[in-house]
Amino acid sequence: MVSTIGIPISIGVIICTTRKPRVCPQVADFVIDTIESNPISSPDITPYKLNLIDLETWNLPMFNEPTIPSQIKDYTQYVKPHTRAWSQEIQKHSAFIFVTPQYNSGYPAAIKNAIDYLFNEWTGKPAIIVSYGSHGGGKAAVQLKGVLDGCRMRLVEKMPALKFPSREVVVAASRGEKLLMSGHDGIWEEERDGIRGAFVELIALLSET
Ligand SMILES: Cc1cc2nc3c(=O)[nH]c(=O)nc-3n(C[C@H](O)[C@H](O)[C@H](O)COP(=O)(O)O)c2cc1C
Repeated sequence: MVSTIGIPISIGVIICTTRKPRVCPQVADFVIDTIESNPISSPDITPYKLNLIDLETWNLPMFNEPTIPSQIKDYTQYVKPHTRAWSQEIQKHSAFIFVTPQYNSGYPAAIKNAIDYLFNEWTGKPAIIVSYGSHGGGKAAVQLKGVLDGCRMRLVEKMPALKFPSREVVVAASRGEKLLMSGHDGIWEEERDGIRGAFVELIALLSET
């Protein structure tokens, strides 16, 4: 993936929840901070910028297009204005980081709905899944990986799983309270290496494009 001279490619960081209150925006900010605080430095690296995509802002209705998205060749073939806008948004990004909690042993319906609206916009693009939950949200990550593989995305091997350290933190997270993520006592300070490792893989996949 080569950027147009002077313009960095965009990597979309998808906030996969929509409820209020919620913790996912904080987790996405933590992921971005982790990557940006220790940038990969090599002259061979395509310049990139991380950009948030918040499903709550998009507020997509339940999938309501008449045509199977894999049959769509151009966004103007979508019928609904919100699908056209969502298609153009996803086309802007060269790769994605999905930040998702585990909901009832799976991933949130909002992200499945957002994925199903499109197909060719996802295909071939590299992706990372960062999950979180009482046990790290691994079940959600595995299920989401199956869906993204089905969309022919190129998943990195590492799947960082951020575990809430206690029941109290799960409850605080669910209330959208500010969690201590940064600094020496940050709850996921030790997980930063895993996130950076996944991002190194993502950049390598991008350079193969
Ligand atoms: C509908 C629902 C189901 C949940 N199921 C799980 C679960 O299966 N495993 C888990 O570790 N946490 C589960 N939780 C707790 C979430 O990890 C926690 O609420 C977190 O804050 C969710 O992210 P959000 O605040 O962005 O929605 C669940 C929360 C909700 C709202």
